[in-house]
Amino acid sequence: MIYRKLGRSGLKVSQVSLGAWTTYGGSVQDQQLVRDIVAKAVEGGINFFDNADIYARGEGERFMTAALHDLDVPRHHLVLSSKVFWPMSDDVNDRGLSRKHVLESIDMTLERMQVDYVDLYFAHRYDPEVPMEEIVEAFSDVVRSGRALYWGTSEWSAAQIAEAHALARASGMVAPVVEQPQYSMLYRERVEQQILPATTAAGMGVVAWSPLAMGMLTGKYDEGLPEGSRFAQNEGMGERYMTEANKERVRALKAVADDLGLTRAQLALAWVLRQEGVSSVITGATRVNQLEDNLGVADVTLPADAIERIETILTGSAD
Ligand SMILES: NC(=O)c1ccc[n+]([C@@H]2O[C@H](COP(=O)([O-])OP(=O)(O)OC[C@H]3O[C@@H](n4cnc5c(N)ncnc54)[C@H](OP(=O)(O)O)[C@@H]3O)[C@@H](O)[C@H]2O)c1
Repeated sequence: MIYRKLGRSGLKVSQVSLGAWTTYGGSVQDQQLVRDIVAKAVEGGINFFDNADIYARGEGERFMTAALHDLDVPRHHLVLSSKVFWPMSDDVNDRGLSRKHVLESIDMTLERMQVDYVDLYFAHRYDPEVPMEEIVEAFSDVVRSGRALYWGTSEWSAAQIAEAHALARASGMVAPVVEQPQYSMLYRERVEQQILPATTAAGMGVVAWSPLAMGMLTGKYDEGLPEGSRFAQNEGMGERYMTEANKERVRALKAVADDLGLTRAQLALAWVLRQEGVSSVITGATRVNQLEDNLGVADVTLPADAIERIETILTGSAD
């Protein structure tokens, strides 16, 4: 496993990481299976485990961290994250990035995870209802209190990232060290054109979510919806990816992967990791063998001619 620095911070994360969204405590209810997948992750060198309070309404945090505790993984080995923003109940204040919600939520996350601190605490979205000063100060205070070691943003715009940094610098508050955007072969323009320039300028790392386009880039949907797969289980979730053009692209990528002796999952992950500004690909897995497949990207660097072939497939031109 290769470990990359999270931007200019001193923290190193495994370039392949594991997240809990839709899976642990959700579509995967068998704690033994979660333990087996998490054990494979640890064995494969993954140190970064991504979570959020909203994942299965707290169960994602519980299931994943229970497995890590059960496996007796030393705390210093782990980079644990969680996030706050989405409503956890109907209560008007049980949502968003107000100082009240951020400071109350971190304590509930730590309780569910049974840890004294998380390494990374993310603002799961930007909250236009809260002044930027209040947001930065709340996260800064979470870090200064030791309940998180660093904080990050998720799906923030380039302008919001720059504003948070300028404010933190001017007021002596703690600035975010990482942004978590969606980034894959099938969802790329926003990150490449707007986010990476902003995070690079701010010295932030980027950890990419859904790097396999929720599984589509593995080729598992070439012939329809396999039983039990994410798009079969969640109506509508695959719609944004499952266009005819994307299906053709994914089929065409098989020849590139075959020529390199890779699976399509490994090709897709290596392609995201070709970006220096990306610190980690946050993958999901509902089975041990999926994670085994994805961990196979650990020592892969794509040659320039393969990147060009991929570009032609994705955009119709190698420019
Ligand atoms: N910040 C945010 O707003 C945000 C949003 C979404 C996700 N995330 C983070 O990103 C993480 C990853 O997202 P994701 O789960 O969408 O990532 P992904 O890696 O693109 O998709 C993972 C899913 O694809 C299938 N899969 C994975 N590897 C496979 C393989 N080798 N062969 C066949 N199928 C395979 C599995 O689904 P099935 O077996 O069910 O088909 C798996 O659950 C989340 O857990 C979360 O931590 C963050």
